Amino acid sequence: MPILNRLEEARRLDGVSDKLQAAVTAAVRPQRLRDLLHGTWLGHPLHPVLVQLPISAFVSTAILDLLPGRRRTATPLLATGVAAAVPAVAAGWLDWSQLTRDRRRVGLVHAGANAIAVGLYATSLIARLRGRTAAGKALGFAGLAVAGTGAYLGGHLSYAQGAGTNHAAPDLDRLPENWTEVCSLASVPERRTVVRLAGDVPILLYRIGDQVSALVERCGHETGPLGEGEVTGEGWNACVVCPWHGSTFRLSDGAVMHGPAANNQPLIPVRVSAGKIEIRQP
Ligand code: FES
Repeated sequence: MPILNRLEEARRLDGVSDKLQAAVTAAVRPQRLRDLLHGTWLGHPLHPVLVQLPISAFVSTAILDLLPGRRRTATPLLATGVAAAVPAVAAGWLDWSQLTRDRRRVGLVHAGANAIAVGLYATSLIARLRGRTAAGKALGFAGLAVAGTGAYLGGHLSYAQGAGTNHAAPDLDRLPENWTEVCSLASVPERRTVVRLAGDVPILLYRIGDQVSALVERCGHETGPLGEGEVTGEGWNACVVCPWHGSTFRLSDGAVMHGPAANNQPLIPVRVSAGKIEIRQP
């Protein structure tokens, strides 16, 4: 859609976007809280899970508002939605702060629309609690319209721009189906990461003795080069830290230890045969 393309390219948003990014990064410092909000513990981003509750509460409120005599049911439902929006917003802002600029432009308008929507719902709640039911309903319907716009932009962010998806997964499909040699075992130093190509797919190798693990080298978060990342820890508990945003993956199995990535880094089947390292598709 042309308007969305223009939004992706709207560089004049970058000034405010960069300032907000710095503010969000400064506001959410503890790694545990960051991992919690990113969804690192969950296996995929937490934000889309958290938005289910406020969205369902807001839509249900609108349905009840269209039915006669449902004021007492609608008000606590609306209050639940407003309260549930708080953690959803927090997780969304943190995810947003780790996106590329073009995605942050769309994300900024997505977040702005949702902030207006939540403000309208909060005002609707206050109006209802003060007995101004008609005004409360009108504000609620306005909130739903604005939230719909925000949801549309969120869909574009995820499905057109790929925010929050695992960018490493497609590389697995481009690996050879059958066992294919990538290099000799002797050419891979121990307890360090090295990058080798399987076709045109870079893979990250880590070796201890005759045992080798292989991961997709492009970081699942935003395709950062894991081969340039620092290795921390020892032995098979060692991890690689992405140089772009600090996502940390265990080298033995690709498990994500710290975000912003929420998915494990894809593990590639590997074997050593006659002194050669071979890999194939899972
Ligand atoms: S690209 Fe963002 S953490 Fe790797």
